[in-house]
Parts: sequence; structure tokens; C-alpha cells
Amino acid sequence: MIDDKIIQTMPGESLTQIFSAEEIAKRVSDLGHILTSDYAHEPLVCICVLGGAVVFFSDLVRSIRNPRLEFDFLRLSSYNKSDESSGNVTVKQWISSDLTDKHILLVEDIIDSGCSMHFFLEKFHPENVRSVRLAALIDKKERRQYPVHVDYSCFNLDKGFLVGYGLDYAERYRHLPAIYELKIA
Ligand code: IMP
Ligand code: MG
Repeated sequence: MIDDKIIQTMPGESLTQIFSAEEIAKRVSDLGHILTSDYAHEPLVCICVLGGAVVFFSDLVRSIRNPRLEFDFLRLSSYNKSDESSGNVTVKQWISSDLTDKHILLVEDIIDSGCSMHFFLEKFHPENVRSVRLAALIDKKERRQYPVHVDYSCFNLDKGFLVGYGLDYAERYRHLPAIYELKIA
């Protein structure tokens, strides 16, 4: 495991730790308990929004106790190697499971402007499902432009561009075990 106190950055970039690996583990496990209780043994498809949510997703699903839990994956794209949303969202990989008569939990890394999820939820009207809800590792409200309801979140923040625990800047820093605020000189 990487020592989260000694992080190497690219020139001109600096990282300040916001949430330690231990804090993240506690919040994710707490959310897992809530989801265990809310869904009980009901059929539940957890959909990982690739690729930022992959680390969060893999920890979260392992903290949910439900013998009818299934996985699926969805890939959206709205960021162009920068820290600003392009507003140009495309679906790169669609869900492949049969969702009939199941609960659906979308698992995202971070909701920022809300553009990606708003766009997706406008298209996503599966028939005969029990419910559709959204879980996000971080609900970041400062740049919210679209009204997206986050049903479950581990952390609420007003601002900052974050990396680590799946979150990237230009595809880098996803592998870090803690969450950092990125500053660029
Ligand atoms: P939104 O469409 O602006 O809500 O942004 C959704 C996507 O943008 C997330 O799934 C992330 O991949 C990315 N994103 C937004 N804010 C951050 C951040 O602070 N760090 C890293 N990625 C971010
Ligand atoms: Mg991203």
C-alpha cells in the first residue's frame, strides 16, 4: 500500500490530504450498513460508473450484506483531460443486465456540476424496476448546475478539485489510497 503521507506529484502540481484512507474506509463501511438495512434482501443491481467510481464501488459492495446483489457497469464521458466539465456527455458503455423487478443503485465517484448524471437520468427510464437511486462518494455542491438528487453520499464538500481513491486529474492519481485537493501552480 502506498504511504499516503509521502506522495509524488508531477511538476507544478501539489496535493493536500483532505480525507485519510482510514476516514474513507469508515464512511464507506457506514454507508454499506445503511444500504444493507435499506435494501435488506431485495434484488439490487449496483451499477458502477466507470472509471472514477471503481475503487469506491469495490469497497462499497463488499460492505453490503445482500445475497441478491448484482453488479453492472456504465461508462460516461464528460471531461477532457482538464478540471472543467465540457458539458459534452457521451455514453461509452451501456448497462447490460436485466433490470426487471430489481432495485438499481448508481454508484458515482463525485457529483459536481451534475451534468453527467442529469444527462444520463434523462435517458434512463428502465421499465418495471423497483427503484432507481444514486450513491456518490462525494457530493460537491459548489459548481452544481443541474438538479441532481444524491440519495446517499459519504462526504459533502463545497469546493476543491479532488484526486485519489479513484478520482483523477487527466487520468492520474486514481490509485492513491487517500483523497487530496489538487493545486496547480
Ligand atoms: P459532473 O458532470 O460535473 O457532475 O461531473 C461528473 C464527473 O466529473 C465525475 O464522475 C468525475 O469523474 C468528474 N469530476 C468532477 N469533479 C471532480 C473532482 O473534483 N475530481 C476529479 N474528478 C471530478
Ligand atoms: Mg473523472
